[in-house]
Amino acid sequence: MRLILLGPPGAGKGTQAAFITEAFGIPQISTGDMLRAAVKAQTPLGIEAKKIMDGGGLVSDDIIIGLVRDRLQQPDCKRGYLFDGFPRTIPQAEALDRSLEAMGRRLTAVLLIEVPDDVLVQRISGRRICTDGHVYHVDFNPPEQDDVCDVDGNALEQRPDDAPEKVKRRLEVYHEQTAPLEDYYDDLGVLQRFDGTRSPDEVREHISATLSTLRLEESA
Ligand code: AP5
Repeated sequence: MRLILLGPPGAGKGTQAAFITEAFGIPQISTGDMLRAAVKAQTPLGIEAKKIMDGGGLVSDDIIIGLVRDRLQQPDCKRGYLFDGFPRTIPQAEALDRSLEAMGRRLTAVLLIEVPDDVLVQRISGRRICTDGHVYHVDFNPPEQDDVCDVDGNALEQRPDDAPEKVKRRLEVYHEQTAPLEDYYDDLGVLQRFDGTRSPDEVREHISATLSTLRLEESA
């Protein structure tokens, strides 16, 4: 399985990635998580990326393409992978196509989670995350104890780029730079659409059914 999770900020990509990676035994490659780890470690890349992420913009294609190319060389990518938040621009998608072609591989599917902007704002403003990346929502997916992660007991916090004025910018950037990928992958015949306004469990069931069918087709 070589999959891409596509969708605007707050659509539920990270939420669904958790189940897909477990169900199919493939690693999640989240460029957002990779950048946040670099920010936390205060590497030169992290210091540069933080300014861009905090402003709601996109980190340069060259940096992202380099990060992903290195990640794909890791042994755990041999059985497949799930991209979350990558590609985000046409040049990133074209670079991925070239890498896959060089490796004699092709994408299994691009899973597009569709959610209207007003719902996204509500979701992002209520999101809370722990330092290990577990994701909650104060109303839709609350932890058992306020502000404490159910999995590891870490304190929950709001992402710096989830402030309302930054969310507006991130949505604009999605519509300008990332939404064109919907047509790009539709034209390649690999796009699968999911109604992300449904509950997390319903979205998961729909994705699960689609992936099971695709797996059967791949092995046929
Ligand atoms: P990144 O970390 O990729 O963030 P994003 O794409 O903006 O997506 P989010 O993590 O905000 O949302 P999500 O879809 O994962 O939603 P979630 O599951 O958490 O990128 C951050 C930044 O890094 C970018 O802005 C950019 O600067 C940089 N960057 C990253 N990749 C890059 C790239 N390739 N190129 C250039 N720059 C890059 O869900 C959201 C909330 O809703 C949660 O609280 C959740 O509990 C809740 N929820 C989820 N599903 C449902 C549901 N069905 N019903 C109700 N609530 C739900």
